[in-house]
Amino acid sequence: MVNWYNKWFGTRYYDLLYNKRDDLEAKHFLDTLVKQLGLEPQAQILDVACGKGRHAIYLNKLGFNVTGIDLSDNSIAHSKQFENPSLHFYVHDMRRLFRTNSFDLLLNLFTSFGYFERQHHNAMAINAWAAALKSGGKLVIDFFNVQKIAMQLVPHQTKQIDGIGFNISKSFENGYITKTIKVNDDNIEKYFYERVQALTLNQFEIYFKNAGLKIDSIFGDYDLNSFVPTDSDRLIIIAKK
Ligand SMILES: C[S@@+](CC[C@H](N)C(=O)[O-])C[C@H]1O[C@@H](n2cnc3c(N)ncnc32)[C@H](O)[C@@H]1O
Repeated sequence: MVNWYNKWFGTRYYDLLYNKRDDLEAKHFLDTLVKQLGLEPQAQILDVACGKGRHAIYLNKLGFNVTGIDLSDNSIAHSKQFENPSLHFYVHDMRRLFRTNSFDLLLNLFTSFGYFERQHHNAMAINAWAAALKSGGKLVIDFFNVQKIAMQLVPHQTKQIDGIGFNISKSFENGYITKTIKVNDDNIEKYFYERVQALTLNQFEIYFKNAGLKIDSIFGDYDLNSFVPTDSDRLIIIAKK
């Protein structure tokens, strides 16, 4: 079965629609995060759901040894052109184990979670993340702040980007934020979807505890300001194995 996330990520339309989520945003966040974490220069980092590698590539430029994994063949094929002896990319499903006890830091950035049809797959993925970390290693997840997203949901939006029309409908139903994206490319219509589970801090706390991860700190945006449920744009959790 082809899931919405197999179909949507890695397309040119995804890149166009999220073109504000660019390398500059990634660099700014990572500079702040690296300071906060106090990483050793030889740290081994795993970027889970790395997409086209914008975070992994920058962290490698800072001198870290970085591995990026993602389900999308297209995105990994693109990222591979940037590989070097301390930067590698692989097609891999985050629900499956990847190199146990190997990483000092694991990242899951920009709402790259909450996609699975089955609830227990959330736990499978988070357990696999915990297994990939060395003892004392840290995990950072950057997820949307459900409460703010739900309060400020814009049901319909149209956008024109580089001559491509985007007609976007959003809804919040049965614990999922669903986005339907109708693309008009040269009068040919294509449909894509995003369906992300509205996971709360409380739900992550339970998954992390069951995986043997202890929450260290919680932030609400890419400047690492405190998390305020009614106000923060992001939910950024740092946990430790
Ligand atoms: C919102 S994108 C973010 C990509 C990247 N972290 C960034 O910030 O540019 C989500 C990514 O999750 C990947 N993904 C979805 N399901 C996955 C899975 N089961 N295992 C690994 N990656 C997955 C998608 O292919 C996509 O690249």
